[in-house]
Amino acid sequence: MTVFFGAVGPRRMVYFAICMVLVVSLYLALDKRLLLTRLNQLSIEVERRIQWWNWQDTPEEISCRAAHNPVISKDPIPNIVHFILLAGEEKEVDMSYAHFLAIKAAVVRMNAAEIKVHTYGLNTANQWWKEIEKHVTLVHVDRNEVQAAPGLSVSSMALAHQADLLRLAILAREGGIYMDTDVYTFKPFTDLLNNPRDAVMAHEGGNRYGLCNAVIMARPGSTFISKWQDSYKTFNPQVWNEHSVRKPKKLQIQFPDLVCPLSPTVFFWPTWAKAHVLYMHEPITPDEAASLRANMTAFGGAMYENQLAFHAVAAHDYLSTLSPKVIQERDTRFNILVSCHDSVRTFARVGQGRDGPGSTTPHHILQTLTT
Ligand SMILES: *[C@@H]1O[C@H](CO)[C@@H](O)[C@H](O)[C@H]1NC(C)=O
Repeated sequence: MTVFFGAVGPRRMVYFAICMVLVVSLYLALDKRLLLTRLNQLSIEVERRIQWWNWQDTPEEISCRAAHNPVISKDPIPNIVHFILLAGEEKEVDMSYAHFLAIKAAVVRMNAAEIKVHTYGLNTANQWWKEIEKHVTLVHVDRNEVQAAPGLSVSSMALAHQADLLRLAILAREGGIYMDTDVYTFKPFTDLLNNPRDAVMAHEGGNRYGLCNAVIMARPGSTFISKWQDSYKTFNPQVWNEHSVRKPKKLQIQFPDLVCPLSPTVFFWPTWAKAHVLYMHEPITPDEAASLRANMTAFGGAMYENQLAFHAVAAHDYLSTLSPKVIQERDTRFNILVSCHDSVRTFARVGQGRDGPGSTTPHHILQTLTT
């Protein structure tokens, strides 16, 4: 030891220690968000960690959710809603009642300039398609034109990953609001359209481990979308949500000026965690229904103050058994939310093709539906 200290000198040791402290504190100061994201994306006890949340939006989330004045040098994000419905090769996709409800919610509630359904092929004889077709534009996509990650042909990828790439291609070209067919909107996204940043997404999970690609808003040609497309160079089909949820979060940390992150309640709360799925889709008591309806009355049809839509993720077992009758007769949070703002189940009834007695549908909603 004496020899060592003699060689380096105690003064140098002190300098070295000071340097280390400086480097570590610089790293923490500059990259705290990166460090936090890395911790949040660890795949340990994910389900428990995403459910935890103190309901405090960050200052950045608050400003991203707030209405903005038009940006002088930029057009607003186009209020065009894009859905994608894909089926495997040589197959036509059949619109389910759950898909229909999601698209109908956009038709009725988003005040959109246009609603597009992009598909490789759709069964146009389907009853739900017939109900909705005059309100939307059907866009046929050639699967060979969808850009795949290098070394991968699109048709070799899972359909969900094909859809991941297709939505980015659509937004890069046209801009607008992309939504999965299990996203149910409550009101127009007006506040978000003039955002100074060219892309808007929302956090998934109370711990904000990701930005989920089930809803993406962007101006055409957004740099964020093109960086995201480039990231598919490292695409690994085994890591299911890497490029759809975790990657955009990493890009947001790296390039904070390119995308505005919203609070988890805006699109993605409750989450895919089992307890949350039960919370949304299992029957509730009359008291619970009344307290939900009180929120919906106060928040323009939404469950939370700043909520614009709900992603009914991990709920296939429930969505696949939905019918107009189930929506009307079974009080679950989901069923109440997709019905009309008032407690009358008009929204679902329109899907049934008749207008029952006692309907108190606001006039403008009926008009939207019949034009
Ligand atoms: C009502 O909204 C508040 C504020 O957004 C939220 O904390 C509460 O959980 C909501 N209640 C229900 C029943 O959804």
